[in-house]
Amino acid sequence: MLNTVSRRDAILLLLGASSFYLFSAFVPESQDPSSIFNAGQTSVLLPAPATEYGSSAPTQATAPVDLGLVQIFPETTVVAHAPGWTIFQNLYMSGGALLLLTSDPSKFPEHRFMTSTGLPGNLTNDAQRQPTARDMAFVTPEEARSRWGGDISSGERHRVRTVEGTTLLLNDPPQFLKHYFHFVAELMFGSWAFLYGAFVDGLVHPPSSPASDPSIEPSFTPPLLSNTTPTIDRAIFIHSDAEGWRDLPGFNAYFLRAVFPSMTVEVSIDWQDRINATSNPEIGRAVHFPLVLLTDRSAAFRSPICGGYTQRTAAPAWDTMARLGKVDLIGNWWSSMRAGLLRYAGGDPHEELQSTLDFPQKIVITYINRQGTRRHLRDEDDSALIAAVEGLVEKKNREGRNWEFNNVHAERLSRDEQIKYAAKTTILLGVHGNGLTHLVFMKPNLVSAVVEIFLPGGYARDYEWTSRSLGMTHYSVWNDTSFTHPNEPKIPGYPDGFHGPNIPVQGSFVANLIEKHVAAREQGISANNSPAHDIYNRRRSWVHPLKVHG
Ligand SMILES: *[C@@H]1O[C@H](CO)[C@@H](O)[C@H](O)[C@H]1NC(C)=O
Ligand SMILES: *[C@@H]1O[C@H](CO)[C@@H](O)[C@H](O)[C@H]1NC(C)=O
Ligand SMILES: *[C@@H]1O[C@H](CO)[C@@H](O)[C@H](O)[C@H]1NC(C)=O
Repeated sequence: MLNTVSRRDAILLLLGASSFYLFSAFVPESQDPSSIFNAGQTSVLLPAPATEYGSSAPTQATAPVDLGLVQIFPETTVVAHAPGWTIFQNLYMSGGALLLLTSDPSKFPEHRFMTSTGLPGNLTNDAQRQPTARDMAFVTPEEARSRWGGDISSGERHRVRTVEGTTLLLNDPPQFLKHYFHFVAELMFGSWAFLYGAFVDGLVHPPSSPASDPSIEPSFTPPLLSNTTPTIDRAIFIHSDAEGWRDLPGFNAYFLRAVFPSMTVEVSIDWQDRINATSNPEIGRAVHFPLVLLTDRSAAFRSPICGGYTQRTAAPAWDTMARLGKVDLIGNWWSSMRAGLLRYAGGDPHEELQSTLDFPQKIVITYINRQGTRRHLRDEDDSALIAAVEGLVEKKNREGRNWEFNNVHAERLSRDEQIKYAAKTTILLGVHGNGLTHLVFMKPNLVSAVVEIFLPGGYARDYEWTSRSLGMTHYSVWNDTSFTHPNEPKIPGYPDGFHGPNIPVQGSFVANLIEKHVAAREQGISANNSPAHDIYNRRRSWVHPLKVHG
């Protein structure tokens, strides 16, 4: 929309205008900005230009052009914030520090809930991860003007450059980035929950991108299902090199390039270029980001819901938006990502893309078999588990049902094939491990569930929290017992043998658990006119885990 008049036209228009005709490059498109973090926060619109330089209300046609004479830079505002997740309009960077341009620092969350020094985390170095003024600082409008404004009276121009569009600023080191689960099911999952939630009501309009108008440039990329969330134009890995965010099986890059083919990736050396370009102590310079989502693992862990309960960095992002009603509880907020990847992988193009609370036409049980990897079942228990679940599926089909069982060795399949299996799965079954990350590409329905096998006494929340945040049921199995939320252990446990090759499981117990789960959901339909409503309400209780469980 912004580009209905081209940049060149705008310049021609301007040349015809009075030489006093000054304007700003920085006016956001949003006419009605409001903040989820603080609804009372003042507007992000540029203050009226100073009168000695002339003034004019910026128009859509003139907004993208700047002659370098602007002296008043728009203040930083927080669109939405949860610990570790902050969406800013008009964030600045100079010499490596993220700068919050404001005359009122009290409007901002504490820096330690937004960022950190980016060091790898461990149990003893929290103090070294607390952000300093080198990481984040406030700058007043007057300081900004004197540092970056240039001396207009002697013909200088300002020294601020805009990095246009929407930027993901990822402040984490490779420590966790290089794992499929942490990258896709935490970072991208949390990023999308937060961006989707912040923009779903159109409270703030994303900057428009020329490529989004097909009359300007053709695109072969199918649009994402969500048309309110801004396209992410670039990801900047501040503390990671090019290897640091790529996982061994290659899912991180596959996901990013499939779902966000236009996204530019910058890594630490590119950020260093930007730091160096703004580091000359004699000549103040700054980079301006109109719209940024800043994420930081250490900051997320400082919240009770992440550090004290789920250990999932995406939890503050999802939980904040779920409490505000900005993301639904059956995973449709994520369907742009799921559908985007499934279409890329070659999935059924006629597949219904939205999740629903219907009883599925077909029950597909997919067993992620880890016998070829380090952490796995006893061999005899693996065989018995497969036999028991196969037996269940045959029985159901003899009864006229439509059930399917897949015994999947992920390491023998292509990435495309793995995603296609995940997408058709109703019940995902497997030993705790990275392969269960594929649960984020299941399409939730009334029956969708994840059955995760641990060494008895062992427990981790990775897939439990993630399943529930998509509206799916999660069962933990300890050999011949199981538990589900809210009866899970309150803290994770990693007893000896947790990662070993001798995990026991009673196959007939698991088959029985699955049979009972599906029957209960089906009976819910006949017993209650509105099972979907009931399930949905039950899922609402998941949103307040801290309150529910003290
Ligand atoms: C924790 O991280 C710090 C660096 O921030 C390092 O000096 C220290 O050795 C680490 N401790 C452990 C136990 O890994
Ligand atoms: C940035 O500047 C530092 C110090 O001058 C230098 O060592 C480094 O190579 C520069 N980095 C880049 C990416 O140019
Ligand atoms: C697993 O459960 C079976 C059946 O109850 C039992 O016989 C077996 O001893 C259990 N194994 C372990 C290691 O607890």
